[in-house]
Amino acid sequence: MKLSQLKLGEKILFGIVGLIFVFAVLSFIMLEIYRSRLDHPMYPSTTSFDFTQEGQKGSVLFRERGCPDCHRALRNGTNQGVSLDGIGSKRSLDYLLRFLKKPEATYETKTMDHGLTKGAAYVAGLPDAEQHAIAVFLSELKATQGSADARLPMPERSGFVDEMVKIWAPDTWKSERRDLREEAASPNNERH
Ligand code: HEC
Repeated sequence: MKLSQLKLGEKILFGIVGLIFVFAVLSFIMLEIYRSRLDHPMYPSTTSFDFTQEGQKGSVLFRERGCPDCHRALRNGTNQGVSLDGIGSKRSLDYLLRFLKKPEATYETKTMDHGLTKGAAYVAGLPDAEQHAIAVFLSELKATQGSADARLPMPERSGFVDEMVKIWAPDTWKSERRDLREEAASPNNERH
């Protein structure tokens, strides 16, 4: 079909779609050029780790025992299960160990994959020493406070959040629930 055979409306429509496409390609190229010239990562990393010897051993076991088939950690693995980067700032070593051994009794809601007959049921049957090393490894995956992977919100008090809580939180919440931000101010803030 020749261009001249198209109706005016079709020409405008294809023209707009074509422009959007060209704009997207140009933006992508410009972004890549910008990124290649940066001397620091474009997004600051909000997770970190510092492994002890046992944690190091756990990281090897984590790979060898197939955890990255479902989990993401240290830029490896898939997103099929939950991402475990920063989990050491959300969960205590004690919790992680309990979860690996008895997932059903430990997890807040019903488990999907760690249940007795599911894909990750084998994890509960790993030898104690392996579970321990893996739990230590996981407990050493930390997240910066206030980032998406962290349990605690940013350390600074936010006037906006205060205002929102005042307006929207039902009164019963204030007596029934703890404000995580108060906990954030205390030095020992791991969950058990
Ligand atoms: C078949 C997929 C699969 C495999 C394999 C798997 N997991 Fe999981 N894991 C999940 C899913 C899904 C969840 C969320 C809980 C659930 O529904 O079971 C989870 C949850 C977890 C949690 C709990 C996180 C929390 O916040 O409480 C930990 C810790 C964990 N997995 C560690 C491991 C380790 C260590 C291995 C390897 C030895 C492993 N998983 C292998 C799918 C998997």
